[in-house]
Amino acid sequence: MKGKSETIVGLDIGTTKVCALVAEPGEDGNLEVKGLSLVRSKGMRKGVIVDLDGVIDCVNKAVSEASQRSGVSINSVYVGVAGSHISTLRNRGVTLVSGEAREISLGDVNRAMEAAQAVSIPQDKKTIHVLPMEFIVDGQRGIKDPIGMAGIKLETEVLIVLGSYTSIQSTVNCVTRAGLVLEGMLLEPIASAEAVLSPTEKELGVLVIDIGGGTTDIAVFLEGNIRHAAVIPVGGDHITSDIAAIFKIPLSMAEEIKIKYGCASVDYAESGLDIELKTALGKGASNSRISHRELCDVIEARVAEIFFLVRENLRKSQCAMYLPAGVVLTGGVALLKGIDDLAMKMLDLPVRIGRPRDVGGLSEMVSSPIFSTAVGLVKYGIQQRTSGDRHYRGSLIGGESWFDRLKERIIRMFVEFF
Ligand SMILES: Nc1ncnc2c1ncn2[C@@H]1O[C@H](COP(=O)(O)OP(=O)(O)OP(=O)(O)O)[C@@H](O)[C@H]1O
Ligand SMILES: [Mg+2]
Repeated sequence: MKGKSETIVGLDIGTTKVCALVAEPGEDGNLEVKGLSLVRSKGMRKGVIVDLDGVIDCVNKAVSEASQRSGVSINSVYVGVAGSHISTLRNRGVTLVSGEAREISLGDVNRAMEAAQAVSIPQDKKTIHVLPMEFIVDGQRGIKDPIGMAGIKLETEVLIVLGSYTSIQSTVNCVTRAGLVLEGMLLEPIASAEAVLSPTEKELGVLVIDIGGGTTDIAVFLEGNIRHAAVIPVGGDHITSDIAAIFKIPLSMAEEIKIKYGCASVDYAESGLDIELKTALGKGASNSRISHRELCDVIEARVAEIFFLVRENLRKSQCAMYLPAGVVLTGGVALLKGIDDLAMKMLDLPVRIGRPRDVGGLSEMVSSPIFSTAVGLVKYGIQQRTSGDRHYRGSLIGGESWFDRLKERIIRMFVEFF
């Protein structure tokens, strides 16, 4: 079995499935898929680990299947993180450019980034990412990469992504107890965005919504950089629970009819189509047939609620809805018929369904929106390995050293002291 150093593994521990994707950077800039595994998830609720042993078991299975299929021995992984414990902060850091010629160096950028991290973070939270939204050189805004530019004052606006210490530590423990090295950790909405968005969409302004089983993950990009990210704890499993509760059927049957007949809008309901409910639950169970319209009605109510929550989240975060590239919907729920129309109506923006792009090799294997996060994790891994020296683009978890951890604590103590 090979253990090629250029091979990267993305591990998506989702609420409904765990998947491991083995890939390599291709010559044409595409990602070459070598193997993929898909295991039903156990021990996750709303994107958070609630039964560590159950999740470790799924990770072991997913990794060993992906390893067998690709013929690659898997030692390290990039893993996604989500859950309603995720929150973001915006902050600004300022530094004076140090060199004689006033040419901005990586050292200057790192100093500005460190200054931007000097905020008080609650004890129970941990920094997952510090992401530059823009750089400002002597008052000139909107600069993406200031290295090599001339200037006196360098400022940066950053998005600090925080997560619950306990939840993040559970993910770290899960990976290490499965015998793997955690090479990096990435917020899931950012991973999905990496997989489905084009550079032009990111430049123009776009909202990506990944609706999975337990969570709806959102990320906003503008002028090529991240502007906002959030995780809303509602997803496709809530649609299934609604169907089960309203028609008094088991969850497994509710899931089956949702996948087979589900539409996100009553406008798509087929008149005259009745759905037979084979198993009813005991005495007092409701009719054994429902109309397609009744089913779509239940689904529409929950999906509309999800888009309402997305809209509210964007409004509260003061994230501009000036998004000319519109909305890209991904994740398993994006497969619901008519969901793009409902999103268009509720968010008042153009909408498309996003599937992983720039993928070669066994590309059809990962063409479903359910694989967006895994593909994004691998793409992120490739970027990290090729531009790892550019510390300011990276994650603080995974490649984090004891020095980084110590530095983080000193900054925190300093801020708290004053
Ligand atoms: N064809 C389909 N039609 C409707 N819903 C679907 C379809 N296929 C999958 N889903 C739903 O998508 C959800 C799973 O999506 P996905 O695999 O993206 O979630 P996950 O990554 O496991 O969860 P999360 O990201 O929330 O932790 C489930 O609720 C499933 O019922
Ligand atoms: Mg997911």
